Amino acid sequence: MIVGVPRESFPGERRVALVPGVIPNLVKAGIEVVVEAGAGADAGYPDADYAAKGARIVPARAEVFATADVVAQVLGYGSNDRTGRQDLPLYRSGQALVGFLRPLGSVATIREVAERGVTAFSVELMPRTTRAQSMDALSSMGTICGYKAVVLAAERLPRIFPMLTTAAGTITPARVLVIGAGVAGLQAIATAKRLGAVTSAYDMRPAAKEQVQSLGGRFVELPIEAKDAQDARGYGQAQDESFYQRQRESLGRVVAESDVVITAAVIPGKKSPVLVTAEMVARMAPGSVIVDLAAERGGNCELTRPEEVALIHGVTLVGSINLASTVPYHASQMYARNLTAFLLHLVKDGKIRTDGDDEIIRDTLLTRDGQIVNARVREFFGLPSEAAAQGAPT
Ligand SMILES: NC(=O)c1ccc[n+]([C@@H]2O[C@H](COP(=O)([O-])OP(=O)(O)OC[C@H]3O[C@@H](n4cnc5c(N)ncnc54)[C@H](O)[C@@H]3O)[C@@H](O)[C@H]2O)c1
Repeated sequence: MIVGVPRESFPGERRVALVPGVIPNLVKAGIEVVVEAGAGADAGYPDADYAAKGARIVPARAEVFATADVVAQVLGYGSNDRTGRQDLPLYRSGQALVGFLRPLGSVATIREVAERGVTAFSVELMPRTTRAQSMDALSSMGTICGYKAVVLAAERLPRIFPMLTTAAGTITPARVLVIGAGVAGLQAIATAKRLGAVTSAYDMRPAAKEQVQSLGGRFVELPIEAKDAQDARGYGQAQDESFYQRQRESLGRVVAESDVVITAAVIPGKKSPVLVTAEMVARMAPGSVIVDLAAERGGNCELTRPEEVALIHGVTLVGSINLASTVPYHASQMYARNLTAFLLHLVKDGKIRTDGDDEIIRDTLLTRDGQIVNARVREFFGLPSEAAAQGAPT
């Protein structure tokens, strides 16, 4: 069994799917690793380190695809919507692919992957169970993004975060508000607290209150209640526009009082709800900073310009996307550990398992034998269930 690691090709992407440190674990399990030359360079992992841990470095990208039984990528075709298509002709029928594939993005893209005959596993679909926790790449990247959002805000804010009592008088601490206390939001709260900010957070899931408080944050209570705020997998569920309208009305004051607002309220597969309007931004003090972690999916702030940093009404709006890539050393390390746990689960007797009895495999398996086989993805895109599609009795 050979796992191949191509160099990431998305513009500006600096992460790599496997780092040298995980290779001995794979080798021990009888898995060989082939790495495209320079694949880890931008993340701080030179070729020599891979070779020293037992990987084989190959110069040509095409050779990685030609040799590998499993291609391991960070952004595979789907989540890499810029250059990912160039890999399509390189995928071989029967080859497995593991990576971020944006399974709820474009059905046409997933079909193209399926039509190459690839057995694709999408890490975004990992179930949220104790057994799968070590394989949860979304949480790993969320952790990195939450941390980096605070660092970016601190860099842009014309104030310092901590309270200081000095001979030059007292400096009051910065006030940081986090909207959306999922994995990224919770890490943002923890990081802002460590820098000394007075930190508060809001989430529509009632369960978030205790998590926010356990990190030393103040939970912002709004006089509105979400309907079925959380789905069975623990993700937030989309609400209707009147709910978002009431949220905006109630959040106005607390946003205006904050020096930094970090928004991280996303709904899987949906456009992000607008929770901070232009009018709310105008009420913030000049010099305030908003970091919109939902920028890639439209943004939680009405004025966010994805991929840009804008200054509007004196407020800096950071709409950077792919923040995890800006911390490539640790983002790659976490991702590589998640992938290694997943690969060790996936490979049995030198073969890739595709058995539907295992929840981790069933949930993450996206395409096989030319078809989109994932039940959740089929339902999301309104495709008939696989059994119905094959004309089998239901
Ligand atoms: N293995 C596991 O059990 C596991 C793994 C990861 C996360 N979790 C938990 O799942 C929960 C969700 O985390 P996540 O990182 O998936 O979140 P996420 O990235 O899906 O979404 C971010 C947060 O935004 C919130 N949100 C969405 N719309 C909102 C709105 N209109 N107003 C306010 N908040 C809104 C969601 O409730 C969620 O908490 C957390 O409690 C987390 O600890 C569990």
